[in-house]
Amino acid sequence: MNAEILARAAELVAASQRPVVFTGAGVSKESGIPTFRDAMDGLWARYNPEDLATPRAFEAHPELVWNFYEHRRETLKNCQPNPAHYALAELERRAPACVVITQNVDGFHQMAGSRNVIPLHGNIRENRCFYLCPGVVPSTDLPKDGPIPPICPQCGEKSLRPNVIWFGEYLDDALMAAASEAISQCDLLLIVGTSGAVQPAASLAHQAIRMGKAVIEINPEPTPYSDQVDLFLAGTAGEILPRLIPGSTAIS
Ligand code: OAD
Repeated sequence: MNAEILARAAELVAASQRPVVFTGAGVSKESGIPTFRDAMDGLWARYNPEDLATPRAFEAHPELVWNFYEHRRETLKNCQPNPAHYALAELERRAPACVVITQNVDGFHQMAGSRNVIPLHGNIRENRCFYLCPGVVPSTDLPKDGPIPPICPQCGEKSLRPNVIWFGEYLDDALMAAASEAISQCDLLLIVGTSGAVQPAASLAHQAIRMGKAVIEINPEPTPYSDQVDLFLAGTAGEILPRLIPGSTAIS
């Protein structure tokens, strides 16, 4: 890591009053969570996650898709937020207007102490009716036995599904509007650990670039954003963010 680029980035972060952070699967990689496109292990190795994460797959094979998410939830139980999440929570303590827009469904930003979080793709720890019943059911409230997937407790008819956005589904309008508003109000955007491959989320970073905001990207690999940002920091989120935002501590 080039020390001069790191120092310039640290200055921009320290001066920012309204930072926005746009995160993807890479920020949770050092927690031991595979990125969405990483090869899956064991029984799931023969499936492409993108084929399972669709409403059509759920309709055709509800038990298979439910069990795929149960597998991901089991993985989560053995993982915790990492220094990258804690550094971003510290950033919000220093700049209370800070907003984290995340594509991750693991809830680790919130667990690490970030409060202004926009979870664009939902929360894997929750479920909702596959049909239209409002509200969510935390996984901790699900019956231990019974049908798989469980039946929605409200309508008593349709299945519950994970409260995440699947391929081919629209994002929540209100969340997308809040994210876009945060970008237009920000004085610095940090893009961390996302390939920028999935729309419409990826367009939020392009919005900041188009608006001429200061933009820093952190990723071990270059992405489509890298040659458009002000500073590209090649490295992992857990290594770089604590150096940009020192002083964070894990909340136990
Ligand atoms: P991807 O799996 O597409 O990309 C992960 C990015 O993280 C890559 O650019 C990696 O180089 C980078 N990366 C890996 N390790 C890292 C580390 N330790 N620190 C920082 N960066 C690291 O994940 P996303 O961009 O989040 O959508 O994908 C976006 C969406 O695509 C996901 O939310 C999901 C998926 O399909 C839905 O579920 C709708």
